[in-house]
Amino acid sequence: MPYNHHDKIRAIEWSDAGLNLLDQRLLPNVTQWVLLKDALGVAQAIRDMVVRGAPAIGVTAAYGMVLAARDRYACSPGEWKSAIAEDIQTLADSRPTAVNLFWALERMRQFMEGLSGDPVPAMLAEARRIHEEDIASNRQMGELGAALIDGPCAVLTHCNTGSLATGGFGTALGVIRAAYGAGRINSVFADETRPWLQGARLTAWELVEDNIPVTLITEGAAATLMKQGKVKWVIVGSDRIAANGDVANKIGTYSLAVTARYHGVKFMVVAPTSTVDMNIACGDDIPIEERAESEVLTLAGQRIAPESARAWNPSFDVTPAELVDAIVTEKGVVERPSLEKMVAMMRS
Ligand code: MRU
Repeated sequence: MPYNHHDKIRAIEWSDAGLNLLDQRLLPNVTQWVLLKDALGVAQAIRDMVVRGAPAIGVTAAYGMVLAARDRYACSPGEWKSAIAEDIQTLADSRPTAVNLFWALERMRQFMEGLSGDPVPAMLAEARRIHEEDIASNRQMGELGAALIDGPCAVLTHCNTGSLATGGFGTALGVIRAAYGAGRINSVFADETRPWLQGARLTAWELVEDNIPVTLITEGAAATLMKQGKVKWVIVGSDRIAANGDVANKIGTYSLAVTARYHGVKFMVVAPTSTVDMNIACGDDIPIEERAESEVLTLAGQRIAPESARAWNPSFDVTPAELVDAIVTEKGVVERPSLEKMVAMMRS
């Protein structure tokens, strides 16, 4: 495949010792792996953002269930299915917005119901399937999304949606990888994505590692970038898509969608169907995580605001479906999303 040259990174690896995660809190300056041996550690790693990004959280939680089953079965081979409920709850409580977390836990829970004897080999195989299916979906979305781009042109992306945020290859960044490989994209603008700097630290790192030209901007520069005609598309991922096509994603996505529509720039959302929550009617009902004030009040451990200043730190926002030109899933592309079109896509 032409874009394999632009796809080197993987951040989630299973070994006999446990689950290995590339520590995203330390990138790009330090490349360090964390080994997790139990479900509690996995939940803590998700909460602390050792791993982040909706599909990556789902894949990680699936492996967390394998660790939970290993421990519970070793303790009480006859009772492990009821005992594991506590671990499922601990994992589910780690972060609230990315529905892939709950999707993966539910898939693993249903899968384990049918098991007898030592559950670990079968549950590990199922977690690996979730992981591999996510990469396959990303590659499929890469092809579908790239085909929408009439290039060569430059695009703007937000947060990190790449191999670090998924099982591998990425959602929005997967489209960017595929389109760059196909000559449809010639350069990428990434915004820094305050306060956690996923764009500056992670997206810029991934693209540099994979030899795709990247230019970092502050979020405040996005409108001027669009006004000057420097980008044709904004391409983002999602943490949860409601049944009507409203899209929850990293805080700042909504502003980009409003700005893009004003300037005639197209807006693409790339997410697997494991991110679509047909039980949520519209974006207003999506739970939005609020994170610590310290993420805003400090930078690299240094206080940047006066001691008595407070901060408000919603981690996600909701972009209304009417501002979205295309939702790209592994099942197909939904242009100008609506409830009817989302239902048809999910049924296909
Ligand atoms: O808080 P994060 O870093 O987990 O938020 C990640 C995002 O908002 C991504 O855009 C989203 O999960 C899609 S990633 C494929």
